[in-house]
Amino acid sequence: MNKNFYFQQLFESQSSTYTYLLADQASGEAVIIDPVDITFERDVKLINELGFKLKYILETHIHADHITSAARLKEKFAAQIVVSSTAPVTCADKKVGQGERVSFGSYILKVLSTQGHTETCLSFYLAEMSKVFTGDALLIRGCGRTDFQEGNALKLYQNVHSKLFTLPDSTIVYPGHDYKGFACSSIGEEKKHNPRLGSGKTADEFKKIMGDLKLDPPKRLQEALPANLLCGNV
Ligand SMILES: [Fe+2]
Repeated sequence: MNKNFYFQQLFESQSSTYTYLLADQASGEAVIIDPVDITFERDVKLINELGFKLKYILETHIHADHITSAARLKEKFAAQIVVSSTAPVTCADKKVGQGERVSFGSYILKVLSTQGHTETCLSFYLAEMSKVFTGDALLIRGCGRTDFQEGNALKLYQNVHSKLFTLPDSTIVYPGHDYKGFACSSIGEEKKHNPRLGSGKTADEFKKIMGDLKLDPPKRLQEALPANLLCGNV
């Protein structure tokens, strides 16, 4: 039923965040991954223009660098908010973990628990279309930081290697952010060329790379985290 698949990669430039809209055009059911507050109107207009019924709003994790529009989208479309079962939020309608499935129309996203950047990190694998939405667990030639929100470099390395790098090499990787102008990659490409997690790096080497980063806190950390724990309902 591939001809019915709709896919759009949307960008929010202030936080360099990717939002994804996926739909089954036969039934009109759609899901949105990682929507951002300041692009709320754009996303609503697109969903309405296409006549989709938004079923789920999926968060790859509780973000620290931007505020989600999940609560507003939920109100607008009567959709359900889906977050990790490890997320300490009460505003979600559904909490999911490793191996669970989220469906829209005839398509199924398999949930992969890819903790390590945060404790609430999920990836969503759409096997039928060879796509995986990795949030900040696996970025193009990079990965999310592991120095706050219960980040854990060893856990990230293990999850990426056991749950993402075991997908077919041809699987297209759609990350949560990109800061260099890239849109997507593939599992095979990241296994070979990701300078932190791929290219033969060991877990110890990865831990050292992440420990040596010494990054400043995200600019919007103080406002984004509390807001996102309320699904952006502020
Ligand atoms: Fe993040």
